[in-house]
Amino acid sequence: MNHTLKRLCRSSAALLFLASFHAASGADPLSPTGTWSAYTAGRAATPPMGWSSWNAFGTDIDEDKILGAAQALVDTGLAAKGYRYINIDDGWWLQRRVSDGQLIIRSERFPSTRRDGGPPSFRGFTDRLHAMGLKAGIYTDLGRNSCSQAYSPDDRDLPQGTVLEREVGLYGHTRQDIALFFETWGFDFIKVDGCGLRAFGADSEKVRSGKYRELRPMLDMDSIARSDIPGVQKQFREIHEALVQSNPDGDFLLSLCVWGAGNVRAWGKDFGNLSRTSDDITPSWSRMLTNYDSAAKRAFYAHPGSWNDPDMLFIGRGDFDASHLTEARSHLSLWAMLNAPLFIGMDMRNAPESLVKLLGNQELIAINQDPAGHQAVVAYDSNDVQVLVKTLSDGDKAVAVFNRGAAALEVVLTAAHMKFRDDAVVDLVDLWSGQHQQLRGKLNLKLDGRQTLVFKARGTRVLPDGLFLSEQPGNVNPAVDGVRQPMPDPTIHRSAFGWHGTSGSGERPIYGGWGGVQPDGAPFGEALSVNGRRFETGIGVLANSRLEVRNTGYSRFTASVGVNDSARDLDSSATFSVYGDGKLLGASRSLKWGDAAQPLSVDVSGVKLIELVVRATATDPAAMPVTWAEAALRRQ
Ligand code: GLA
Repeated sequence: MNHTLKRLCRSSAALLFLASFHAASGADPLSPTGTWSAYTAGRAATPPMGWSSWNAFGTDIDEDKILGAAQALVDTGLAAKGYRYINIDDGWWLQRRVSDGQLIIRSERFPSTRRDGGPPSFRGFTDRLHAMGLKAGIYTDLGRNSCSQAYSPDDRDLPQGTVLEREVGLYGHTRQDIALFFETWGFDFIKVDGCGLRAFGADSEKVRSGKYRELRPMLDMDSIARSDIPGVQKQFREIHEALVQSNPDGDFLLSLCVWGAGNVRAWGKDFGNLSRTSDDITPSWSRMLTNYDSAAKRAFYAHPGSWNDPDMLFIGRGDFDASHLTEARSHLSLWAMLNAPLFIGMDMRNAPESLVKLLGNQELIAINQDPAGHQAVVAYDSNDVQVLVKTLSDGDKAVAVFNRGAAALEVVLTAAHMKFRDDAVVDLVDLWSGQHQQLRGKLNLKLDGRQTLVFKARGTRVLPDGLFLSEQPGNVNPAVDGVRQPMPDPTIHRSAFGWHGTSGSGERPIYGGWGGVQPDGAPFGEALSVNGRRFETGIGVLANSRLEVRNTGYSRFTASVGVNDSARDLDSSATFSVYGDGKLLGASRSLKWGDAAQPLSVDVSGVKLIELVVRATATDPAAMPVTWAEAALRRQ
């Protein structure tokens, strides 16, 4: 690749996409493919649930702690309710044997792994978990070294030996390690962290001290342009290929952990089952807001098989311990609404009864595990209170009313928030109290500070014969979202309680994805509006985009299309095309800013995959937000 192309690739997600998927074939990324391209391999039809060692123990792990958690999940009934993955996070490894690259377990902490005449093996450990009806997860890193090696204050739980022996990450060993984890040891889940690609540059203290070898950083938390996105994607693709080889039955789960760096909030969905949208959660309310915000406006980037991951639950500690049940309920409610993985992060051997009960709320679990897989959409937004609405497979809605602040609030919930008619009764069941009530048009609610009310709601749909696309984000995949120059998202809560506390100058906007496709709003947060006509419902996206839409048996696609009033490019024009299984079914005329929205109505009977493509003459698509207003799939 020549130098200029290389620079362009680093700074442009769309080009990266083109580079990774289309360059070889010379294909145009806006051309319909007739296939769903988000990740569907592995076993993540619904978000995984379970327990992970990290929030509870950090690297200070051992077999008793982990098997103790497994036993407690079984004994408390939480396993039967779905919490089945038992994930070992960082800290399990002793070293890599240099002669043959074999990874060696810290068997002093995991005595059952000792074997006469051979390297320690986790096979007995995973057999035990499997015999308990559970699944087993393990942790590794994209680079040569792990996050604890990059950031632990001391060497206590770190791999030991020479520089080479302490290189326990996947780098250069992907096929061998994945085969070891899945074929030999029998794991079912892998979390792949990225610190080895972030913290071992030539000028890092770790490298300068001679304790670690240099690996040119490919991820830069502070700069999307300095992240080598194709390089990181290539590694995830290799891991995926190794997983497929090692798991002929497809029983694996691939969890990407690059914390929102390198614009992964836009492409993680194409490379794994889970993708972390932010840096680590801490047991602080404010930090939880950061992690929640990093996923909350990414509904279109999550689908069955490819979920947003705002990190593990911190219920049981700090602001979410047994004396903060309101906060703990909110944490679980929000994660359930976001279709986030539900990984418990406390020492389950002495978990308070109140928290076990809270985590076992079956109604909440059912919201998270709903098979339709539609992440909640933010229906009312402010810095103080938000209303989240999630379409369920039975046609009901889950509604969360979330008080972000510490003060009590009065909130009005309306039928319109749920896209229900306001002249018909909406039945509500409060999923925390079990109380039933009815809403007629609107309902006044009182919320305590930091409280989240969650309801299951049944009403009469505004659209009687179908579903708006913004009600079914799990069926809409932004294959190309039009973002050519990824920018950090400025809307995410900036907490004072991350890894670095209040040292330094504070967290800047760092997580890419700003300008991505949005439900019921324009890409940069503005309203959907075309030539002065306001639309409450629809999809806002940038020009030069392609959305894949799964059709679950509907016969007609309808929308009103146009350039959004928030555009800055007032001269370019855009054409909206609708494809069905790769064939053109309908298109708008060429539309400019200021043109009235053009109605489209297209027969999609029998079509499995619809593609919505906007081609524009705009050289800067970011200046040209376009609107698929009231986009819907209907029965007639
Ligand atoms: C990173 C990850 C955490 C955890 C630690 C382990 O910080 O984001 O979730 O896995 O590494 O060192």
